[in-house]
Amino acid sequence: MKIRVWDIPTRLFHWMLVAAYAGAFFTSESEWFLEYHTIAGYIILGLVTFRVLWGFTGNRYSRFGDFVKGFKEVGSFVKEAVRLKPPRYLGHNPAVGWVVVFMLVLTIVIVFTGIATYGGEENRGALAGVISFEAANAARKVHLILADIAIAAIITHICAALFHDFVLKENIILSMITGTKEDPESWSERVEHLKPEDAPSAARLAVWIVVTVLGGFALIYLPPEGRGAFTGRETVQVLDDLGFAVLLKPDPVWKDECATSCHSGFHPTLLPAASWEKIMGSLQDHYGEDVSLDDASRAEILKFLLSASAERSTTEASRKILNSIPKDRVESRITEVPYWVAKHEDIKEEVFKRKSVMSKSNCVACHPGAEAGSFEDKDIRIPG
Ligand code: HEC
Repeated sequence: MKIRVWDIPTRLFHWMLVAAYAGAFFTSESEWFLEYHTIAGYIILGLVTFRVLWGFTGNRYSRFGDFVKGFKEVGSFVKEAVRLKPPRYLGHNPAVGWVVVFMLVLTIVIVFTGIATYGGEENRGALAGVISFEAANAARKVHLILADIAIAAIITHICAALFHDFVLKENIILSMITGTKEDPESWSERVEHLKPEDAPSAARLAVWIVVTVLGGFALIYLPPEGRGAFTGRETVQVLDDLGFAVLLKPDPVWKDECATSCHSGFHPTLLPAASWEKIMGSLQDHYGEDVSLDDASRAEILKFLLSASAERSTTEASRKILNSIPKDRVESRITEVPYWVAKHEDIKEEVFKRKSVMSKSNCVACHPGAEAGSFEDKDIRIPG
């Protein structure tokens, strides 16, 4: 006989949370997906709020009162579980009960540190204008650490469910879909035939958990080239004449004349085409210096710059740079582009004067990937 254990709202909550977490995970690597990441976060907040309320008003098995138990009961459950003979609970068992509470609290903190980061660093969302840049930076660190802890908790949770399915012979994953479980009599009738001497030691259980958790992390972080491979973060792409994204190959003359001889080259994706035309059209007065080139070199460099100007770039920085420049203005300094100014105004003048930085235009001092056109938030480091 089947007993209805999980009501429909609880099951819907569970699987929608899985989907929203997956969405948040896959949009977390690149700023390009930040908007979608934020949407996932707000959906998660809504789901969790619902679950907390449902924990007081839902059916019997969905209530906190049913599964949040004292430490004595948790302890004795764990002891029995290690011997592979845990007492059966129709709802959440006492150990999982606390995991549920932990996950709910963890998720709420993750969402709020996310909103704080979004507010302080992007000036958007519920906390825009309220959170300082420094606080947002701290919030982001917490957000990242807790997200990793959540991943570990999810992996452990999946391991525990599989363990339940394969070792304790009860398909609890299926029951989270159908909502039903076997009644106590037929269950005990069935498991009686499982031999107790099959029970592995606590050590084996611990090894099982460690191996699966590490395995899960390895899956996420290692092959084939780390998570960067997923978003192609390191490679700046530009659109060719037909509008296809292609890898940008630095032009040798540009490299020679602009990126090595005088300064580290400003990446072409940092300014719109009109700016590059203006800059390349006035080389006899290049920020106070005469850096005139022969016509052939000048033409080649300009062609390269135009092939990868901000309009052609697929990076978020380029898009925001373009959006920030008023239509009738042609910027000739990256450091005067409104988006650049907005992103760096919280950095004190003293920082730019440090020996390790020297000037605002020494981008590579703080952005290690600057020469390749990468300004990823996570790579930024301000030298002391
Ligand atoms: C003193 C260190 C420092 C220098 C020098 C510096 N930056 Fe930054 N930059 C930062 C910091 C810190 C941020 C993060 C600001 C934020 O997220 O609100 C940032 C953010 C950015 C961003 C936004 C990243 C994004 O997510 O889109 C871009 C683009 C950028 N910098 C470009 C440049 C360029 C181009 C130069 C050189 C002309 C430069 N920066 C010089 C520290 C620096």
